[in-house]
Amino acid sequence: MKLDNVKIKNFRNIKDGKFEFTGGLNLIKGNNAQGKTSVLEAIYIFARGRSFRTNKEAEIIAFDSQTADIEIQYEDNERKNLMSVKYDRDGIRKLFKNGIQVRLSSEFLGNFRAVLFTPDHLSLIKNAATDRRLFMDIAMSQTDPKYITRLKRYSILLAERNSLLKSRGADSRESMILFEALAEQMAPIAAAITVKRCLFCDSPTEHIKKYFEKMTDGAEITETEYESCLSADKDVLK
Ligand SMILES: Nc1ncnc2c1ncn2[C@@H]1O[C@H](COP(=O)(O)OP(=O)(O)OP(=O)(O)O)[C@@H](O)[C@H]1O
Ligand SMILES: [Mg+2]
Repeated sequence: MKLDNVKIKNFRNIKDGKFEFTGGLNLIKGNNAQGKTSVLEAIYIFARGRSFRTNKEAEIIAFDSQTADIEIQYEDNERKNLMSVKYDRDGIRKLFKNGIQVRLSSEFLGNFRAVLFTPDHLSLIKNAATDRRLFMDIAMSQTDPKYITRLKRYSILLAERNSLLKSRGADSRESMILFEALAEQMAPIAAAITVKRCLFCDSPTEHIKKYFEKMTDGAEITETEYESCLSADKDVLK
């Protein structure tokens, strides 16, 4: 996957810009507050479906504009692709792939794939497990459509269970039956998500080992392991 260029209009402080990228390493150089991170923010919207800096979409539209537009051209194994997003202050967001509007964000995801790593990502190591889970969820949502469907379904069921707990408590017989019904639906989804996260953590182990060995001249050896209170049976996915 290679990003060819990004066109940005009225996004943050970028009025109208086109940025070209070459294969390999690209550096973005500029003054403070010139818009370097905004360029990355715009690109990453195509991988994640939303900004990595804010949940409020209106914030990314230039102060003096009603709309913001971003467009990327990228190449995957098969062909050149064009994707674009249009934001409107009225809260309307339109997504397009190769000129055709995509209504579901799940269909938008998984096309252009990218991994974001910023100084904030040190929280992956320093902070709580929720940050690590979120990082994995974002990465896997790009490569596995089933994963994001499961994740969404699970969070709906979890919200239902929590609201049931709030409104009735777990005492009555009726509540118990509802709880059990919800738990029955949640369990296989939770198991599949856990297995996927295990596999995800396994996947870079060999690379991490190799590079860490190089960095330390072979003095240190690393292992990575996904720790979960659930024992993961990888057959759940079959
Ligand atoms: N909606 C908006 N409309 C116009 N300007 C905005 C908007 N949102 C943010 N800005 C401004 O855009 C500028 C660009 O910031 P950005 O963080 O992209 O710059 P940067 O080049 O990464 O800076 P640094 O070198 O400090 O990391 C900031 O001055 C910010 O105040
Ligand atoms: Mg910056």
